[in-house]
Amino acid sequence: MALESAVEIAPAKGKLGVLLPGMGAVGTTFIAGVLAVRRGLARPIGSLTQMGTIRIGKRTDDDVRLIKDYLPLAGLDDMVFGGWDVHRDNAYEAAVRAGVLEGPILAELKDELEAIAPMPAVFEQEYVRNLHGDNVKPDASKMEWAEALIADIERFKADNGCDRIVGVWCGSTEIYKQPVDVHRTLAAFEQGLRDSHPDIAPSQIYAYAFLKLGIPLANGAPNLMFDFPALMELARANNVAVTGKDFKTGQTLMKTILAPGLKARMLGVHGWYSTNILGNRDGEVLDDPDSFKSKEVSKLGVLDTIFEPERNPELYGDIHHVVRINYYPPRGDNKEGWDNIDIFGWLGYPMQIKIDFLCRDSILAAPIVLDLALLIDLAQRAGLSGVQEWLSFYWKSPQPVQDDVYPEHDLFIQQTKLKNTMRHLMGDEVITHLGAEYYD
Ligand SMILES: NC(=O)c1ccc[n+]([C@@H]2O[C@H](COP(=O)([O-])OP(=O)(O)OC[C@H]3O[C@@H](n4cnc5c(N)ncnc54)[C@H](O)[C@@H]3O)[C@@H](O)[C@H]2O)c1
Repeated sequence: MALESAVEIAPAKGKLGVLLPGMGAVGTTFIAGVLAVRRGLARPIGSLTQMGTIRIGKRTDDDVRLIKDYLPLAGLDDMVFGGWDVHRDNAYEAAVRAGVLEGPILAELKDELEAIAPMPAVFEQEYVRNLHGDNVKPDASKMEWAEALIADIERFKADNGCDRIVGVWCGSTEIYKQPVDVHRTLAAFEQGLRDSHPDIAPSQIYAYAFLKLGIPLANGAPNLMFDFPALMELARANNVAVTGKDFKTGQTLMKTILAPGLKARMLGVHGWYSTNILGNRDGEVLDDPDSFKSKEVSKLGVLDTIFEPERNPELYGDIHHVVRINYYPPRGDNKEGWDNIDIFGWLGYPMQIKIDFLCRDSILAAPIVLDLALLIDLAQRAGLSGVQEWLSFYWKSPQPVQDDVYPEHDLFIQQTKLKNTMRHLMGDEVITHLGAEYYD
């Protein structure tokens, strides 16, 4: 049922370059996965854009379509991959090192992966203390680094004959920092780049380069990358779509599935204790307390906005929420996350829920990278700019459109918003479940 209000969306013609600052476990699992799907070696499980469906119209219309057939998305065959890393390993070597994918599938993809070599990174040791590599740009001012990144992006685009580029930060989690004066306005930030201001993080220099070129960008890590006024000003001025932050996978995904259910049934929660063991490079980086602090803040925000303790003090007013991550090398990328949840029900009787999630971090994150790359490209072609709140579905710490609204964490509200935005973009009616004929 097409409405006249369909948004005009430029066609997805030509090649889409996907540039990743950070080509480690998540980045290479994403690239190898898309190459494998392209060759028919595997299915894109976990990707909503590839496997998900969407209902159009009333239930009686019986019109349910694959999202990839419904939206004018770029095709997987049209994607080209590149990125930067502080390690010289090409995508094959990095994938082997990450130890996420098994040998046979990597062997099949070896030639294609070997051809993807990371460009030298913009890096400052202070921001990721437990990481050491030498594939870095030579010493220069932060503005010169931004200019070098802009030149990298333009070269990549020309060399690969790309029509469009998108960026997804898959780099390590930087140390926790709050915005300061240099982050307040674009003018202050640009002066800060020229002065190599110590509070401007490497991820922010990448963000500046992408936004300066009008390229849409997603931030997969919890650190401050563009979620501050100066770069929001640049995104608005250049009409760029941005979305972040911190891929919602593993334990937090479980939390945002389970917590809305408890809340929906008005079951109380006394405490939620979450702990993880993780042995990949991400785990090693997060072993530094300042990098962990970025992650902790991102993970802790989730329950408060779902439970709204100020509105439900009797049920959630006294909740103890603890999150721990322990670096334990034998586990590699195969994280184990335990949750102990102390709940209470009718007349205050206590109960417990235990979750032991033996998950694979990068296997959960890779399809999110794919969806985000395709959906921010779509957003950009649809003329949407600034924060794309409808993509909150993918984030542990969704960035709200403005400072005075709270971010929505409930996965099911996020999913409704995501699909209704898709319907709106295509000029179909949003589904409110309020139809007078009871068919909605
Ligand atoms: N895997 C998940 O489920 C998940 C979920 C949420 C967030 N994340 C975040 O995604 C990011 C990537 O995770 P991962 O498991 O791939 O980690 P990883 O350590 O395997 O990969 C990160 C890569 O980024 C590189 N890097 C760091 N700083 C860089 C810079 N300034 N420029 C270019 N490259 C840089 C590192 O050398 C490394 O190869 C991390 O920040 C992680 O916290 C992952």
